[in-house]
Amino acid sequence: MVGMTMEWPEIFIVATSALGFITLSKALIYFARWVWVMFLRPPKNLKTYGSWAIITGSTDGIGKAISLELASKGLHIVLVGRNPKKLEATSKEIREKHGGHVQVKLVVIDFEKVVNGEEIVKKIEEETEGLEVGVLVNNVGMASPYPRYFHEEDLEFMEAIIKVNLEAITWVTKAVIEGMFRKKKGAIINTGSGSCSMIPSYPLCTLYAATKAYLWMFSKCIGVEYKSQGIDIQCQVPMFVATKMVKLKTSLFIPTAKDYSKGCIRWFGYKESICVPYLFHSIQCLLIRMVPDSLVDWYLMRQHLYLRKRGLAKYSKLKA
Ligand SMILES: NC(=O)c1ccc[n+]([C@@H]2O[C@H](COP(=O)([O-])OP(=O)(O)OC[C@H]3O[C@@H](n4cnc5c(N)ncnc54)[C@H](OP(=O)(O)O)[C@@H]3O)[C@@H](O)[C@H]2O)c1
Repeated sequence: MVGMTMEWPEIFIVATSALGFITLSKALIYFARWVWVMFLRPPKNLKTYGSWAIITGSTDGIGKAISLELASKGLHIVLVGRNPKKLEATSKEIREKHGGHVQVKLVVIDFEKVVNGEEIVKKIEEETEGLEVGVLVNNVGMASPYPRYFHEEDLEFMEAIIKVNLEAITWVTKAVIEGMFRKKKGAIINTGSGSCSMIPSYPLCTLYAATKAYLWMFSKCIGVEYKSQGIDIQCQVPMFVATKMVKLKTSLFIPTAKDYSKGCIRWFGYKESICVPYLFHSIQCLLIRMVPDSLVDWYLMRQHLYLRKRGLAKYSKLKA
């Protein structure tokens, strides 16, 4: 061994092999963890956070499906929605499916119409007073009926989407988090979107993606803030789900709201601050990451221009 020295070519080979080994090990660890969380990790017993869950935007699509899933786990449900008839119908469905042991409370708020945040905070606080709220799902959201240029957005729609996608989560969280902080336990789940995080841009749907980017950062920061206080905060990122918001048919990558919610509640309460909870969405994100950003931008712009054209034709016909 004495006097053994390495020549430059050998050093290069050893260094690149070490680098390759580290990269491969990282990928394998990442894959093993993905398999664990996707298929094997048991869901949390959400009742340990408290016996009630609040779900906003709970009268249709993902929110309704999550409400039914949470009720099936024995949680009492506070349904927050804007339409009293749809709230009543969802409540009836929950009670019929999950029997007498689940209580349901209805809170009518139209997040588009509220004058200020204080109104939301007061309403939620009053309606949930005395309830042991352990889980909050900030799911409410809206999107433009079809893609369009930013200058084409009407002012009314702009006001509405900011109130529903950005302000609602802020004020509802404010109303609920203090109670969780006092009890040192709680889980908050915010429904984000792949449009602001899993793809490089979402042209012609700028406001939608930008409001979801707020939710993404809000979740990350507040998650770190309350990590040591027993409150688990998570932003869940769906890609397309077949609901009335997107009006798409189901496919491998586009689940029903029911199938999506079954996957997503398995992640509730876990420490990941951001997650893509649906199996095929997760695979889709991986595939998108392999494509150069400029190609994804080009494809989405082309696709959204086509949808804009169709949307303009449809809505001008409706107006006529
Ligand atoms: N579907 C997707 O592909 C997809 C993809 C990524 C992210 N997301 C996100 O997932 C969440 C749920 O979307 P979804 O697809 O389930 O949509 P959805 O089927 O249109 O349901 C939206 C829910 O929000 C309620 N809502 C809308 N505006 C409201 C307002 N002003 N005040 C109170 N409630 C209001 C709706 O009430 P009504 O029943 O009265 O309409 C409904 O209960 C949203 O945050 C959305 O951005 C969806």
